[in-house]
Amino acid sequence: MPDNGALKEKTLLRFLICGSVDDGKSTLIGRLLHDTRGIFDDQLSALARASQRHGAVDGALDLALVTDGLEAEREQGITIDVAYRYFHTDRRSFIVADAPGHEQYTRNMAAGASTADMAVILIDASKGILPQTRRHSVICGLLGIRHVVVAVNKIDLVERPAERFQLICDEYEAFAATLGFASIVKIPLSAKLGHNVVTATEATAWFDGPTLLHCLESVDVRAAPVEAAFRMAVQWVNRAGDGFRGFAGTVASGRVAVGDKIVVASSGKVGHVARIATFDGDLDHAEAGQAVTVLLAEDIDISRGDMLAAPRARPDVADQFAAHVVWMGDEPLLPGRSYLLRCGTQLVPARVTALKYRVDITDLAPRPAKMLELNELGVCNLATDVPLVFDPYATSRATGGFILIDRVSHATVAAGMIDHALRRATNVHRVAHRIGQAERAAALGQTPRILWFTGLSGSGKSTIADLLEQELQRRGVRTMLLDGDNLRHGLNRDLGFSDADRVENIRRVGEVAALMVQAGLVVLCCFISPFAQERQMVRELVADGEFLEIFVDTPIEECIRRDPKGLYAKALAGQIPNFTGLGSAYEAPAAPDLYLDGMQAPDLAVRSVLLRLALADESA
Ligand code: ADX
Repeated sequence: MPDNGALKEKTLLRFLICGSVDDGKSTLIGRLLHDTRGIFDDQLSALARASQRHGAVDGALDLALVTDGLEAEREQGITIDVAYRYFHTDRRSFIVADAPGHEQYTRNMAAGASTADMAVILIDASKGILPQTRRHSVICGLLGIRHVVVAVNKIDLVERPAERFQLICDEYEAFAATLGFASIVKIPLSAKLGHNVVTATEATAWFDGPTLLHCLESVDVRAAPVEAAFRMAVQWVNRAGDGFRGFAGTVASGRVAVGDKIVVASSGKVGHVARIATFDGDLDHAEAGQAVTVLLAEDIDISRGDMLAAPRARPDVADQFAAHVVWMGDEPLLPGRSYLLRCGTQLVPARVTALKYRVDITDLAPRPAKMLELNELGVCNLATDVPLVFDPYATSRATGGFILIDRVSHATVAAGMIDHALRRATNVHRVAHRIGQAERAAALGQTPRILWFTGLSGSGKSTIADLLEQELQRRGVRTMLLDGDNLRHGLNRDLGFSDADRVENIRRVGEVAALMVQAGLVVLCCFISPFAQERQMVRELVADGEFLEIFVDTPIEECIRRDPKGLYAKALAGQIPNFTGLGSAYEAPAAPDLYLDGMQAPDLAVRSVLLRLALADESA
């Protein structure tokens, strides 16, 4: 094959090496860098010295030291260790992602894989295919990597290498058949001796395939995105003056040309491309990966976060969808909890409405699960607060992938791949009625509210709320009281006291309380509600000022002393392991709307609430 690579514009390949240090991963990366002269000379001499210190003989370089010695970088905002290394040949530039390889570090692998065009799956010839080989392959397939090289390393150390190689290849083929790879190239190699990494070797004369570098240089990774339908998320609206109004962004997939008809995905409005501007002048067309500013012939309302798309192949617009999720949070995924979802330029509140199952990554079998722990993979339904514009991940990595962000710590807690919109999301619409909350509240002559009492069990929430409700009724206020113990006999009978169940408990109660606010009522809610995030979630269900967080602050020693239901005694005897304040956390409100000292007499507490509501009797 004539080597005309140098004549063409150099392309960039991002790839990932999956395997552990034991498999020879560091040595392989070191070998690639070394044999392509990716190591700078000063690093080389330092390496020679270090190798000698580590007992290398005959001036041989210990290539594992090249990578092991380098600090892992941290992706901004994502606490995941992926080190990226750069090297190039005459034909291509390469970015190799080196993710720590221990089996439990799925999240590191996923972070590296999400941007990779190709994966090198490293297998130790003597060990063969391990659970982690399968795990890595599954994630590569899920994250849309289409090209895989199976590198069977340490082939120089096994007996009958040709047979051993064939056996591993056959087993891998059978396993990977359903993972959707477009190409799987298998190569026997020795990273240590440099066999078949950059140069071919007589040592494996029985093998007539390519070297690893040849694969990396020749794999075709550009074709796919351009064939896909046009998508461009609007990063910002450029108003440069003189009536200039352009929509700036990066073409996520497909191509767009001057004169093309485009649609704004969320509104369905249609326009025509008048100009495609860049810093280097106008273009007549642009392709996936190019950053451009699109100007339309029509004056259409478009803002940041909107997506421009091909009218005949529109993305989905839905607020509920099914997705695969790789959990990366140290705290487990809690269905029902509100997270921030980022998909391209869109950032919206979202929650997992149902965790359908966990995927056992070694055999791809679904397993029942109530939550997802760090590094686990699951399939779930999600709901967003506003409709999301997306494509199934299988159609487009660029517009079908998302991350979930914890609303308090701002840590990235999941990487997701959208499977499909839920039909219920597209077939159910809101109906407008003539009588709303305002009319109902006016009929009752009152301001509807949620009075949310939070605090430990036995802190006095129910006692205070019970007294308060009598006072409110006496003043003609229409009320309703929702109490944790009571609702757990009906609506929430199926829930226990795990973190996940407590989240769901408060989510349901919040929805009910919000409905009662729409009915015009003043709703008193007494729930431990131990997590700040769920109390915030209920607050966001109603209008500003309609949710009042009332913290009944009673020291746990006092709650234990009162122990009205005898539950603390049981908990202290070890019979209720996750009792709030003992085995399970209570997150006290940092800035409640009203603070009540739980040691004071209940009627004083009631008076504080009435004062806050401006309903206190002058005489009292
Ligand atoms: S919450 O944590 O989900 O908000 P909720 O307010 O509904 O709890 O119910 C709390 C009541 O359930 C307590 O007052 C107590 O009577 C009872 N209970 C039973 N087991 C537990 C437990 N493990 N932790 C806390 N309360 C418990």
